[in-house]
Amino acid sequence: MIGGAAGGRSLPVSRRAAGIPSMELADLMRLANEAGAIDIALGIPQLGPPVSAVTAATAALSSGLHQYAPPAGLPGLRRMIANQFSSSGRGWDVDPGTEVTITCGATEAIMIALLSTTDPGDEVILLEPYFEVYPGMVELAGAIPVPVPLTQPDWRLDMAAVASRITSRTRAILLNTPNNPTGSVLNRGEIRDLTNMCVEHGLACISDEVYERFVFDADHVSPASVPECRERTIVAGSLSKSLRMTGWRLGYCVAEPGLTTVLRRVHERTTVGTSHPLQSGAAAVLPEDFCTAEMLRERRDAVSARLSGMGFDVQTPEGGWFVLAGVGPHSASSSQLARRLVTEAGVLVAPGTAFFSDRAEGERWIRVTFARDPDATDKALELLADFVAGQDR
Ligand SMILES: Cc1ncc(COP(=O)(O)O)c(C=O)c1O
Repeated sequence: MIGGAAGGRSLPVSRRAAGIPSMELADLMRLANEAGAIDIALGIPQLGPPVSAVTAATAALSSGLHQYAPPAGLPGLRRMIANQFSSSGRGWDVDPGTEVTITCGATEAIMIALLSTTDPGDEVILLEPYFEVYPGMVELAGAIPVPVPLTQPDWRLDMAAVASRITSRTRAILLNTPNNPTGSVLNRGEIRDLTNMCVEHGLACISDEVYERFVFDADHVSPASVPECRERTIVAGSLSKSLRMTGWRLGYCVAEPGLTTVLRRVHERTTVGTSHPLQSGAAAVLPEDFCTAEMLRERRDAVSARLSGMGFDVQTPEGGWFVLAGVGPHSASSSQLARRLVTEAGVLVAPGTAFFSDRAEGERWIRVTFARDPDATDKALELLADFVAGQDR
């Protein structure tokens, strides 16, 4: 129980829930809403889903697909995902019957992967900076997040640092490639080192690959392509970004049958399954309906160059949807800068503090997306440029 409820009575709140902080951006988003600020913080696609998916989902609603889908997911959607996965260069011919589970976004996929592979008190390695929700998810599972910093300036893996954080309680590594927020993409050597470590120490390898299609200057290498590590790998994927349907909440886990059996047991006790008609809609898309990196390359270049031109410290991202820009030349505090940008310039960016366990390090960065509407983004960048020019005068 924690205290402090109105009337002096304690609320029946678990320690694990009480310990999870509110999302860093929530406060700023409220402020941005009130101020009518242009949002270039969140990764929300510019356009909607493919017409084929919308037409099929509408037809599914009209034809009466209103009840539960099979918990593992509609066979047609699992087949579609298995086909995409099997032809992605990972060298794994995935069986939709026993190796694919449809989840409520990659978010649920990661959560059930953590619940399926860790016990309370176990440790999970995270590569820092990380996607904001990871530490809270690990804690919800009762485990302990162990952040290991990537090396700057280009956010590479420091294997000696990872090795130094392995203990007898380490049970899993949660990695994300291409990475949100840095835009770095783990290379073949880094994946080989990580998978070797997982095999050597008997760890689960949970690989968040929601941006796998958005790789600009590198190859996407998945730990699932390393046969020796496959039995302990869970790939968390998503249709949110690749089919521009973040609100449909469709993601998936790919894992060998042994782990999939466990993942499905946990899935059946968390969400049971995601929306039946929307699964039916997504199952109707064709390979050519998926987004490609080429659709975003010019925006990635333009947004990176513009931020760099304003004096921010920018590494052009190799993949993903975001630029992580160093604020050093303009501010000692990204959280203060982000607040002032909302109220004084009408622009919402994400302060880096959400992505680092080391708050001081987080204060050095802001994250900007290049996946939103180009005109609105360019307008926001103009406002941002005016703000920093005015401030530096
Ligand atoms: C790295 C990463 N993982 C997972 C997610 C969540 O994906 P989903 O919408 O499929 O839950 C996001 C969303 O922004 C993300 O950036």
